[in-house]
Amino acid sequence: MTQRTQVGIVGAGPAGLFLSWLLHRAGIESVVLESRSREHVEGRIRAGVLEQGTVDLLKEAGLGKRLAREGLRHAGIEIRFAGRGHRIDFESLTGKAITVYGQHEVVKDLIAARLAHGGAIHFEVSDVALEGIAGRRPVLRYTKAGEVQEIACDFIAGCDGSHGICRGMIPQGQVTLYERLYPFAWLGILAEAPPASEELIYAHHESGFALLSMRSPTLSRLYVQCDPADELNQWPDARIWDELHRRLTLAAGGFRIAEGPILQRGITPMRSLVAEPMQAGRLFLTGDAAHIVPPTGAKGMNLAMADVHYLSEALAAYYRTGATTELDGYSARCLRRVWKVQRFSWWMTTMLHRHPTDSPFDRRRQLAELDYVTGSEAAMRSLAENYVGLTLD
Ligand code: APR
Ligand code: PHB
Repeated sequence: MTQRTQVGIVGAGPAGLFLSWLLHRAGIESVVLESRSREHVEGRIRAGVLEQGTVDLLKEAGLGKRLAREGLRHAGIEIRFAGRGHRIDFESLTGKAITVYGQHEVVKDLIAARLAHGGAIHFEVSDVALEGIAGRRPVLRYTKAGEVQEIACDFIAGCDGSHGICRGMIPQGQVTLYERLYPFAWLGILAEAPPASEELIYAHHESGFALLSMRSPTLSRLYVQCDPADELNQWPDARIWDELHRRLTLAAGGFRIAEGPILQRGITPMRSLVAEPMQAGRLFLTGDAAHIVPPTGAKGMNLAMADVHYLSEALAAYYRTGATTELDGYSARCLRRVWKVQRFSWWMTTMLHRHPTDSPFDRRRQLAELDYVTGSEAAMRSLAENYVGLTLD
């Protein structure tokens, strides 16, 4: 049986779900196809820092209630190196702040809102395939409970993340992939322990980078730089805590992270990727399907939400006027932001990590950069402006 919708959406991560919600608010129909179960998507722990602009987008879209109640507003971060901590005060430098609220909480809010308004989200589908994106009536095909289904769409949004199928649907020769791999990874844990600081701490250390973050007053989210070839069994709890204590230590003493049971752990490789352009015919890519950033600037979800904001505006303009001008300009509009955010994420990453091939000269230069970034008001403002999020144009 062939169903019909205006926008077919592949992927129920933050990008696909937010798009479907914004389209609903604009009176545009959509269907979301997701390969995993609702429980899986809602329980998937990812980053948790929302830019001020992302919070504003969610609020404007009527999704700000639980976020306002449970989100932790942070007016700054700390950068720690050579045994000393330096605060970057976002509030005084930019007048803005960030909010710590888990990505999976955003996903839960989006699913609940969409389903409450009769939205179509099909979980646990398989064999999703796209056809006819070069024509006027692209088709999404999938299998659900053993039956093959078809949806005729006006447009398809590829919101299926870094391992999805949509990016690969842009014919070869029409897309260029720009990529950088980093020679390190992050080992991340979620621990039942009160965070030792109210704000995030990004630490540069001879042994490698470490990050202290949190999800609530009783849950810490902590990361240590590790080798991308490392396996979790090489990192018993005691080694993780030792490295965290070592890398986050203050020369003057008086700081110690609290340990607690480790509830989740994982190793994330780090890479930067941009697909250009982010569209082909009637297929539009958003979020991780189009670009990946290393997590050091906490930009992944924020960038996804900005893409979706632009795409929903362009689709709304099309359905209002019949003109494709805004849709045609979608990729270029996104990419201006994407490349600036790529630059910032790359810069934070290279400044804070230990690179295996660094010479003593490189190490000295890195320390000088950290000294400059935490000592010059102009440099601090630049970091702060990027961290709280560039204005959506
Ligand atoms: N068919 C259907 N669904 C798919 C397919 C497929 N072939 N491939 C992937 N998916 C689903 C995944 O299961 C996932 O739920 O697409 C969704 C993509 O979601 P995310 O990976 O969360 O990507 P996105 O919505 O772009 O959000 C970007 O997520 O990965 C983090 O760090 C990233 O914070 C950033 C944010
Ligand atoms: C997180 O809380 O998971 C987190 C915070 C900041 C980052 C990356 C991840 O840069």
